Amino acid sequence: MAWLLARICFPKKVPRGKFSSCQTRAWSRGTVTAYMPEATAFPGSRDHQGLYQVSVEQTDAFWGVLGRSRLTWINPFHTVSYSDLQQGHVSWFLGGQLNVAVNCLDRHVHKAPEKVALVWEKDEPGQEDRITYRELLEMTCRLGNTMRRQGVKKGDRVTIYMPSCPMAVASMLACARIGAIHTVVFAGFSSAALADRIQDAQSETVITVNQGLRGGKVVPLKETVDQAVKLCPTVKRVFVSKRTDEKVPLSDLDIPLEEEMMKEDVACEPVAMESEDFLFLLYTSGSTGKPKGLVHSQAGYLLYAALTHKYVFDYHDGDVFGCVADIGWITGHSYVVYGPLCNGGTTILFESTPVYPNPGRYWETVERLKINQLYAAPTAIRLLLRYGDDWVKKYDRSSLKVLGSVGEPINTEAWEWYFNVVGDGRCPVIDTWWQTETGGICIAPRPSNPGEEILPSMAMRPFFGIRPSLLDGKGAVLTQNDVSGALCISQIWPGMARTIYNDHQRFLETYLTPYPGHFFTGDGAYRTSKGYYQLTGRLDDVINISGHRLGTAEIEEVVNKHGAVAESAVIGCPHEIKGEGAYVFIVLKKCSNLSQESLTSELQGLVSNEIAKYAAPEYIQVARRLPKTRSGKIMRRVLKKIIENKADELGDLTTLDDHEAVKEIIEGHKQLLQKKQVQQA
Ligand code: PRX
Repeated sequence: MAWLLARICFPKKVPRGKFSSCQTRAWSRGTVTAYMPEATAFPGSRDHQGLYQVSVEQTDAFWGVLGRSRLTWINPFHTVSYSDLQQGHVSWFLGGQLNVAVNCLDRHVHKAPEKVALVWEKDEPGQEDRITYRELLEMTCRLGNTMRRQGVKKGDRVTIYMPSCPMAVASMLACARIGAIHTVVFAGFSSAALADRIQDAQSETVITVNQGLRGGKVVPLKETVDQAVKLCPTVKRVFVSKRTDEKVPLSDLDIPLEEEMMKEDVACEPVAMESEDFLFLLYTSGSTGKPKGLVHSQAGYLLYAALTHKYVFDYHDGDVFGCVADIGWITGHSYVVYGPLCNGGTTILFESTPVYPNPGRYWETVERLKINQLYAAPTAIRLLLRYGDDWVKKYDRSSLKVLGSVGEPINTEAWEWYFNVVGDGRCPVIDTWWQTETGGICIAPRPSNPGEEILPSMAMRPFFGIRPSLLDGKGAVLTQNDVSGALCISQIWPGMARTIYNDHQRFLETYLTPYPGHFFTGDGAYRTSKGYYQLTGRLDDVINISGHRLGTAEIEEVVNKHGAVAESAVIGCPHEIKGEGAYVFIVLKKCSNLSQESLTSELQGLVSNEIAKYAAPEYIQVARRLPKTRSGKIMRRVLKKIIENKADELGDLTTLDDHEAVKEIIEGHKQLLQKKQVQQA
């Protein structure tokens, strides 16, 4: 397991009891039933550990009780769960019917119609809009009626290409209300990437805005949709919402959204959905060039998002929850929209960037909106750390109670800055590990028993119902502590993805057949001597740029489109702020005489245009040949070692076909680094 052992990094320990003065409120106040009223059904569970044991040993009993109490059903379920992992069939709450929009809106409107559901923190600071549950329900209903009138039916896929704004949330919920399946595409994706996703989902409907605003700049989202739609004959209608006052040209397909919505009623009959009907598809990268549309279904996903939101962040009624992720990612789905709204909470919709108009943006927003839980990405924390403590200390952060981190490993320096400077040493920092596939947080320091330690840069403890295991290269479960292995989840949980849209075989092959009987996450992990989990990185050809997953094959496909490129290999390289960046090795066609500079800027432009700006490679290195086995397979591990500056640890090279080529690549890499250093100086 040398490949895994090499990735282990032991965490720097902090003294025990560091958090004794800032325990989560619920635990320090009273009994386990005050914390989770449903615990009365499990008399033996006296504390968190007891509840956790129930959740993994009496899974159906645990989730059955929670499913009944936390969700509002149109018809009750008769069976809690069913699974056949060999076939990849997983179902929760069978026989039950519900409507997700009713769970996120109507039931809260009945209790507290004027409670704020969304605080829309627009790109320009100080112009926030507060939208109550009543207003959000009305918006959702009008939008649902508009879609119905235009022919959108239950089961239809609706692609949403919008920035984080109330109309985007209403679009998601309106789909849920009428039984359509939404597929939100991050509004930073290019028209080609958007077109791929529309085609794969066979969407007839797209919802977008005339223009976006981000970091003070106008983003021509409608224009991008126009280009994408030209490639998508399935599209029959494009709803265009007005984010700015600018008029954009409308074609025959386009429907001005607000105008149509105003004609509609504020009540919209919700469809009774089966628990296992699809709620949404969300595209994410895998190890092939083709992104996969992971499918989440209704009841299990919603319950899991709501429960993790409540317990990992210790969310209490009246708190203001600030997840700054874009709604285009799973984090936005679960912790901007579904989790908080299912819990009747107040959730922030953050449209801007961490540095607009200056690096104090997050902290000024925390002060102004009195945010209680802040959930952000390590990339942003690392970036802001560089601007120094003054930007943070300028603002009052006393409202903060919990600080969360998501999407990629958080290094110790960033963790400690987050804890000591941002949280003034009083707020637990929660490093949450999960994936698009898991639907919600699976491993995180909280919840846990009072007094239990939190160590920096570690996700640590499994959530209720999550049974993590580490498996070795031969597929054996590693039972001891202080070991590394492939991270799997060894029993089903309600939030797990059910399939890949139109490609169940790929779902089976990616997640369920590598380690039969277990769900394989694609990540490696280390279990410490105390049984805590620490993520050690991806085990497949997926890189994580600023917390966004990208398959190396996806970038290669684009790079290979360049007329001068004969062949390429993309490898993830460490990046101080983004966590990882793309390092591209290319072999040029014989006829090419492009300079390194033009090649670099052309390839960066190509990747930005074809995928998204964040995917643009950091380094382009031209090589005479790529290192290959005699059977012609690129030896990626050799390239990886070279860019990690570990050329003396290349390992077994007996199958390498051209040793001279490797020497040249090592030399070329050194020169490229020197050149970059000179440029930066
Ligand atoms: O490699 C893990 C990394 O991000 C991957 C999931 O990416 P995505 O589906 O885009 O979801 C991101 C938001 C949940 C994982 O397979 N990852 C996520 N969280 C962490 C992490 N790596 C280390 N530590 C984490 N806390």
